[in-house]
Amino acid sequence: MPFVLRQAVAADMAEIMRLERAGFAEAIQETEQTFAERLQAAPEGCWVLAGEAGRLYGYLCAEFWPLEAGFNAARFARDHAAAETHVADGAEVYVSSMVVDPATRGTGWGRRLFRDALAAMFARHPQLCSTILIVNPEWAAARRIYQAEGFSEIGAIDSYFAAACGAQLPAIVMRRART
Ligand SMILES: CC(C)(COP(=O)(O)OP(=O)(O)OC[C@H]1O[C@@H](n2cnc3c(N)ncnc32)[C@H](O)[C@@H]1OP(=O)(O)O)[C@@H](O)C(=O)NCCC(=O)NCCS
Repeated sequence: MPFVLRQAVAADMAEIMRLERAGFAEAIQETEQTFAERLQAAPEGCWVLAGEAGRLYGYLCAEFWPLEAGFNAARFARDHAAAETHVADGAEVYVSSMVVDPATRGTGWGRRLFRDALAAMFARHPQLCSTILIVNPEWAAARRIYQAEGFSEIGAIDSYFAAACGAQLPAIVMRRART
């Protein structure tokens, strides 16, 4: 089914939250307020795969950060306010979240969404030169996409996913320099 990649708008919120609930365990789902702040403060980082009649088949959220050596674990806090972290002329994209509708997974749309949304951001914002993200060690599809797209592990944040999984799972931090 052909979906259209476009920037998210406020009217997408109900569908974004449906995808969020379908994508993550309840303990780590982010709130509607968090997504509303992202749309308000960092609309250039909010992308959706749109189908017909307002239905969405995926979303990807990102914000721009100043590029720093290594990483600051505090920046990755779940439900942080994008208005406090997004810097319009920041040189690094932080991909904060991505979900594809379960009915559509495994058909290549996740990789397309990830690759094409990042390509669109880099094309529109020439100051960008790096991308950073975190991933749960158990999210096999996401890890496969990040590895295939050239990301490298640069560290970990201990127990980041402890609340969701009942285990002391870290977040793996990955980065890719613009090639
Ligand atoms: C991560 C996610 C967006 C990927 O979307 P998708 O449409 O399934 O991705 P694709 O179809 O493009 O598949 C990507 C790769 O993962 C592989 N893959 C898909 N499901 C997999 C699974 N359950 N286990 C292992 N690999 C898997 C695919 O084979 C593909 O690899 P390939 O390119 O080498 O063939 C989707 O699985 C999702 O929404 N997951 C829940 C939320 C999440 O984990 N988000 C990412 C972290 S924020």
